Amino acid sequence: MIGKDIILGIETSCDDTTAAVLKDGYKVLSNIVVTQEELHKDFGGIVPEIASRKHIELINIVIAQALKRANVNFRDLTAVGVTNGPGLIGSLLIGLAAAKAICYSLNIPLIGVNHVLSHMYANFIENPDIKRPIVSLVASGGHTSIYLLKENDEFEILGSTLDDAAGEVLDKIARFLNIGYPGGPAIERISINRNADAYKLPRPMLKKGLNFSFSGLKTAVIYMVRKDKTLLSRKNMPDLAASFQKAVIDVLVEKTLRAALSYKVPTIALAGGVSSNSYLRSEMKRRAESHDVDAIYPSKEYCTDNAAMVACLAYYKLKKGQISNIDIDAYSQISLKT
Ligand code: KG4
Ligand code: ZN
Repeated sequence: MIGKDIILGIETSCDDTTAAVLKDGYKVLSNIVVTQEELHKDFGGIVPEIASRKHIELINIVIAQALKRANVNFRDLTAVGVTNGPGLIGSLLIGLAAAKAICYSLNIPLIGVNHVLSHMYANFIENPDIKRPIVSLVASGGHTSIYLLKENDEFEILGSTLDDAAGEVLDKIARFLNIGYPGGPAIERISINRNADAYKLPRPMLKKGLNFSFSGLKTAVIYMVRKDKTLLSRKNMPDLAASFQKAVIDVLVEKTLRAALSYKVPTIALAGGVSSNSYLRSEMKRRAESHDVDAIYPSKEYCTDNAAMVACLAYYKLKKGQISNIDIDAYSQISLKT
């Protein structure tokens, strides 16, 4: 198949084994995601050792599938983009080793990609012409930050969580309420048509700066239930879940909007697993539009972990000549590495 830039993306930072092929940075020729949710759900969270072992079993199959579905061969590839951090180190290494092997044997560029930034770039798959600057909220299971992406594609972190990530508190409270894993979608499902104002919960640091703190909100729910066990009843629990979801999202929306207004940017871009939440999407749009700010978000398949977003960011890095050395390492912690 003839194309200009055909980029294979690989993403194995957590518990999804994923590979995708993008043409020219935005045409998704394939996007394969094999989730390990079933393997981890009994533990209420991800078990790193299980995740990396499963990645080893799946990685070659998933890459082969991505190429096949895209109708391309290894030899058609211009470059390989791969997440090399932040994430679970054992998981990252599997994708990184696969990417290095492909690039080394074909003598094509290897492009290491920051997982958090790639979530933000998921917005450019379906909106490649969106003008910078933008303010982007990246909210997932491991991170919650507000970024300013400038005209020159450089970025600045405007605020981050001081403790739990938004997805992490949703997962923890879903586990506490015994309603399933991953917690975000479970809470969203149980909250549909329920009274989200039934219980008064705190909105931590709502008016204070652009950092987040969610652990106090989590503790508030746990204490409330400890005091009154009837909150766990079939009648009350969905209202409690809905009230909790609303508290988390109110904070995300308020701070992201405040960032957009204070930096005078015309566009807010949501990203990360939590941004597949319908209430977050609609509230962000509604609040932003009332201030003449546009709010965009990727299709749900590009919100949760996927390799299309990795190939997308790799494309922009390739255009800027930001190619990695073949000996790049994986790193586990959030950092400003691009
Ligand atoms: O981006 P992602 O797939 O992986 C990480 O990089 O962490 O995000 C996963 C997180 C989980 O915490 C999950 O509960 C949350 O995103 N999530 C949601 C929804 N779908 C996934 N949270 C709220 N509403 C959803 N619909
Ligand atoms: Zn992620």
